[in-house]
Amino acid sequence: ELINWCLEDTRKGGFPHYMLKEIYEQPQSFYETLRAGVDERVRNLVMEADEITLVACGTSYHTALVFKYLAESLCGIPVRVEMGSEFKYFTPPLHGLVIAVSQSGETADTIAALKMAKARNCPTLAITNMQGSTVTRIADETMLMRAGPEIGVAATKSYTAQLAALMQIVNLRCEGAFDDALSHAHLAIGDVLLQDVHEAVTLCSKAKHVFFVGRGPFYAVALEGALKMKEISYVHAEGYAAGELKHGPFALLTPETPVVAICTPGPTYGVMVSNIKEMKARRAPIIAIGVAGDTELPEIVDIFIPIPDTHLLVQVLTASVVLQLLAYHTACALERDVDKPRNLAKSVTVE
Ligand code: G6P
Repeated sequence: ELINWCLEDTRKGGFPHYMLKEIYEQPQSFYETLRAGVDERVRNLVMEADEITLVACGTSYHTALVFKYLAESLCGIPVRVEMGSEFKYFTPPLHGLVIAVSQSGETADTIAALKMAKARNCPTLAITNMQGSTVTRIADETMLMRAGPEIGVAATKSYTAQLAALMQIVNLRCEGAFDDALSHAHLAIGDVLLQDVHEAVTLCSKAKHVFFVGRGPFYAVALEGALKMKEISYVHAEGYAAGELKHGPFALLTPETPVVAICTPGPTYGVMVSNIKEMKARRAPIIAIGVAGDTELPEIVDIFIPIPDTHLLVQVLTASVVLQLLAYHTACALERDVDKPRNLAKSVTVE
């Protein structure tokens, strides 16, 4: 099947930046990627895997990390995530399926890692937005995302479309347990697009450093939130697993160092609340992302940003979109070149 991209999709369509347009396209690109489903051959590869290794770079590395948390905790499959650039020179012993995750399908380090996996006779799968790209020609099978053309250098809709593809794998391995949650995800993504983040933007645009923290899959979301912030606003941002902040970064906390904490209901809610209190005690302003209806968090944090109270998989998506908006509006407040940040390229084709 050939996927057609029309010229209209490559225009800004009334948005001030491609990035904002692409953020707003996420309900659709997520939905389309989900609707495309998983073909028989990919399904077989995925169902047969005793162990999965993902190779990726940049934002794609973060979606791979989200997958690791979800697949290990929800379906009990051992998952390893490797950066393409490391994997090539420090190749771990490989068993089972190797998945290359790459929006462009042309990232040199990811391609190199995929070739190594092939050379070791592992079954391979490419997850990409680019039909006919290099990874699709190397891998045994391809799962094509339906994000459409992404022009802004910062990955946004390709990130959530990758999650749509990866969450389908999780769902397959869990016998369709998340059918319902996934089929409503685009609506929740649409809801958070309207979320007002201006107070948080005011804090972040004045800061020299911003920390992003979460646990489990939200640790991966925090890494991505920090990457978005630094790449387009040039505000120094670090993503951390919430429990690690006290092992060093606490030394940097001041009233001028905001911490963005993702804290949603579940087994780590209580420990996140204690982490937040510890950070407050070091006088760091806290911007918390929690679920609508939470009565405890808004009392202890400086700024509370609600996301809909949905399934964990959907919270991962909506929290990520809020962080995209935060980075985008912070970059605009600082008058950065949002779609073409300095020194960066959309696709890195050299090692
Ligand atoms: C570049 C882009 C990032 C992207 C990374 C990996 O650094 O600026 O947005 O996440 O490459 O790209 P890929 O196409 O392999 O997902």
